Amino acid sequence: MGSKQPHEFLSPVWRDGIFNGRVAFVTGGAGDICSAQTRALVYLGADACIIGRNVEKTEAAAKDIAKVRKGARVIGIGNVDVRNYDTLKAAAGRCVRELGSIDFVIAGAAGNFVAPLAGLSPNAFKAVMDIDTLGTFNTMKATIDYLVESAGAHLSPNPENSPPGGRFLAISATFHYTGLPLQSHVSAAKAGVDSIVGSVALEYGPRGVMANVIAPGPIEGTEGMERLASQDAIAEDAKQANSLQLRPGIRGGSPGIPSGRWGTVRDIADATVYLFSAAADNVNGHVLVVDGGAWRRQGGSLGVGLDPGMQYPMFLLSGEVSNKVKDGRKKPSKL
Ligand code: HXC
Repeated sequence: MGSKQPHEFLSPVWRDGIFNGRVAFVTGGAGDICSAQTRALVYLGADACIIGRNVEKTEAAAKDIAKVRKGARVIGIGNVDVRNYDTLKAAAGRCVRELGSIDFVIAGAAGNFVAPLAGLSPNAFKAVMDIDTLGTFNTMKATIDYLVESAGAHLSPNPENSPPGGRFLAISATFHYTGLPLQSHVSAAKAGVDSIVGSVALEYGPRGVMANVIAPGPIEGTEGMERLASQDAIAEDAKQANSLQLRPGIRGGSPGIPSGRWGTVRDIADATVYLFSAAADNVNGHVLVVDGGAWRRQGGSLGVGLDPGMQYPMFLLSGEVSNKVKDGRKKPSKL
């Protein structure tokens, strides 16, 4: 079964084998969210290639995901940066050579850190634009011909109820709906991601490729949250949820989120299964927000990069940002 139990990455409503014979190509597939998405697809019958920068991490994640179903084939292709089109194209070619096709694509690789506009160098802004926006474009460009082929080969709906093909999915965010302090780079990048997917839906829909976006909200236990939210604020959020007895028995209660709880990787995996399944045959160019309604009160009780008590706009005027988020900055060499 690998390191996760099925209930951790999938709700019990899906039928076994709905992705039999299909192949998923997933950038960022070793990350917390995208590995859960891949695990769910593989559990339900797909094979997969996961793509990442770090060779060891990517190969280890592939091995672990493969354990979720007997006979599953999952290949980890490391040393691929989504900013480099040629390496992505080569990875897509290898996926098709070794697994036979690419039927589903998830453009999931992303970069983030907390920084005010004043703390962003042009290169810092560009790094996130390049990973998120250019990376989504590159992923689409490297795989779209395979998706068109897959859509043509697996028309859906069909009388045999065989699984569909030709689905493209990008992972975005909700920050650009309102704008968010300390996230101008990510807001711009994810707006671009949504826009690219709209164009894919228009240009490739007539060839049978359905292209959509999932916009996750705050997801518990992920690298992304470690980079965005102060650990003090997360602890305070949990404390408040407990004292309010908010949704008792539900893990990860949060008073700042309208649904009363944090998101889970399983929420995102379930949404992915829906969009790749025959149930979503005519869903195209859609942005599926899976955030418990959090974007409607963006920031909520848990402001990005803020400790408890820090409030807009005072933290901006004082230049104070929490140091309890994972910085992600490369440490200078000690030479
Ligand atoms: C200000 C920073 C910074 C920080 C890096 N930079 N961290 N600036 N504050 N905390 C600057 C650097 O100084 C440099 O600019 C520029 O960004 C590029 O940094 P590098 O380290 O050289 O780039 P690179 O190795 O390509 O790394 C890219 C990265 C890194 C984005 C900076 O954090 C990364 O690789 N992240 C991938 C993993 C990740 O972020 N996962 C979380 C995804 S969650 P100068 O000017 O000095 O050269 C996510 C959630 C979205 O995306 C929202 C969900 C709700």
